[in-house]
Amino acid sequence: MNTSNKINDLRSELNDHNYRYYVLDDPVISDAEYDRLLRELQLLEDAHPDLIADDSPTQRVGAPPLDGFGNIRHRIPMQSLANAMDTEEILAFHDRLIRRLGKEQAIEYIAEPKLDGLAVELVYEKGKFVNGSTRGDGTTGEDITQNLKTIRAIPLTLRVEAQSVPALLEVRGEVFIRKDDFLKLNIQQEANDKPVFANPRNAAAGSLRQLDSRITATRPLSIFCYQAGMVEGMTFETHSEFLAALQNWGFPVNPEIKILNGIEEAVAFHSDLESRRNTLPYEIDGSVFKVNNYDLQEKLGSRSRSPRWAIAGKFKAQQETTVIENIILSVGRTGAVTPVAKLVPVKVGGVVVSNVTLHNQDEIDRKDIRVGDTVLIQRAGDVIPQVVKIILEKRPANSSPFKMINTCPECDHDIYRPEGEVVARCQNLSCPAQVKRRIEHFVSKNAMDIDGVGEKLIDQLVEKNLVKSVDDLFRLSVDQLSDLERMAEKSADNTISALNNSKSTTFHRFVHALGIRNVGEHVAKVLEKAFSGNMEDFMKTNVEDLEAIVEVGPIVAETIVKFWTDKNNVNIVNNCFDLGIVLEPVNNETEQIFAGKTFVFTGSLESITRKEGKEIVESRGGRAAGSVSTKTDYVVAGKNAGSKLMKAEELGISVLIESEFLDLVK
Ligand code: IVH
Repeated sequence: MNTSNKINDLRSELNDHNYRYYVLDDPVISDAEYDRLLRELQLLEDAHPDLIADDSPTQRVGAPPLDGFGNIRHRIPMQSLANAMDTEEILAFHDRLIRRLGKEQAIEYIAEPKLDGLAVELVYEKGKFVNGSTRGDGTTGEDITQNLKTIRAIPLTLRVEAQSVPALLEVRGEVFIRKDDFLKLNIQQEANDKPVFANPRNAAAGSLRQLDSRITATRPLSIFCYQAGMVEGMTFETHSEFLAALQNWGFPVNPEIKILNGIEEAVAFHSDLESRRNTLPYEIDGSVFKVNNYDLQEKLGSRSRSPRWAIAGKFKAQQETTVIENIILSVGRTGAVTPVAKLVPVKVGGVVVSNVTLHNQDEIDRKDIRVGDTVLIQRAGDVIPQVVKIILEKRPANSSPFKMINTCPECDHDIYRPEGEVVARCQNLSCPAQVKRRIEHFVSKNAMDIDGVGEKLIDQLVEKNLVKSVDDLFRLSVDQLSDLERMAEKSADNTISALNNSKSTTFHRFVHALGIRNVGEHVAKVLEKAFSGNMEDFMKTNVEDLEAIVEVGPIVAETIVKFWTDKNNVNIVNNCFDLGIVLEPVNNETEQIFAGKTFVFTGSLESITRKEGKEIVESRGGRAAGSVSTKTDYVVAGKNAGSKLMKAEELGISVLIESEFLDLVK
């Protein structure tokens, strides 16, 4: 088979898998197999750049950033929908239609969930995706073609087995983020110290309006298509026929959509959908009813901004007002201290809400939230309740602004908020709210690497008061362990041996294990070098000395100094040494040839493992990162290197093969 045919076969195979995964939700191969096929296609396209096509599945990773969005004029304006606030208004809508049509007649409606996302228009010429835009002001939208291409559920080429394709096809739909994807996205944002999104709609809007589509490509955007724009070269009699055609062409169409006979069925659909609202995997704020027959739609026509033949039935607001009885501080497992408002319990969207997070002091200041205030609370779908606003008119005369206290509510130690950060934290190694998580981290693979101390055992050790902080681990006896549930003497023996074995360790493992905020594995290694593995010096250090270390910034420096200001932390570390921890001496001889350079390893290496590669880089002053960015200096590529290699090539980063890398360090 020649290359061009091979490329075409791979593309259509990948498109099929994409469709099965994103539209039918019924994949037939694993993600790894998909990645392998994509890589194969990528390599062929790399070798034959003349054969790259705009609609290739490789083109979904995003393109270099734009300076701004262009404009696209909608051939047919994108109108909005009139609202019906309750059942009476849905019935009144139907009565209006009957009056306009001049005779009593049964009307067939299409009922659709009203998605809470962003309307977009997708344009296809001869079956190929050519551009896409936002709704904008209804007449002209922004050209977000590059961003839309990253949404895998959007076909770049229409599937044609079932039917032919029109010369021009404009499809409208709603881009949104599923509730579970939204929660995951926010966890990720938090882990990367990026701002979290207030709700799925904001997250979808922020992602779609990125000038850098490579960022959009990392966001979990979904779409359902629900409306025709201009269509040339093919006609349809009803909206349901058009929706069926959309499905055949490979567009995702909401499975909740129903054909209804008469307005009573619409009322029933509406209340059924409302009762299931919180169980759907995405957020909706109502139902949409459209006259199914296109001739009837035409007869009914439009008002200035919305069609007469459709209506949006709105759901009851998921908002209520209540009173803040108190504001307490709550300490999370990571030591983050969060203010929480205790509310006079109130039912919002069928669920009783009695607590709402106020996030942090900045947020409290921004909204000027006070004890005694009457607040508007909102629950959007399954998403955590939030304060929308304060009803100032109802504020008691004697109220005063709320200021968080500076001590931890769980252990009374000082809490600390680094300059420029929003979250205040408790750094006490024996804070009861954090102790389980601190121990989990202490024993983990890249920290002290203590086998056999899992989550269940830690729960028991803490609950039975055997361990209050990490040093207590080294005080445990076989007898104490064998008394615990599901602990045979043999495994108690093994656990004690693992604890004893872990005592001979390195500075960086031990420091990483302490869980000082912002001191991960890499920074711990940097500190090991800077302090030549001397723990005493490190415990007595100051901000100036720390800031003098390359790779240690002011926040890390201050956090470390604050950590050692808590005498309890110093005691616990000294206890560890008294109980037998010994740190390996550090050899600082190796020439720091990679100082300041960042490496990424990808693919399978042959003569060294990735971990060894990382150690080689770090022992020479460099840094090994997990993903390729503009900050990467070198990518070391082994066999079957995939998307990271692609990204390196895209960003023009130097790529080394394994032997070239090893030559550098010989
Ligand atoms: S049809 C002329 N169908 O609601 C009809 N819109 O207020 C135009 N929306 O901008 C839209 N789900 O963002 C339609 N199933 C659905 C919808 C839907 C959500 C949004 C869309 C539109 C707004 C109209």
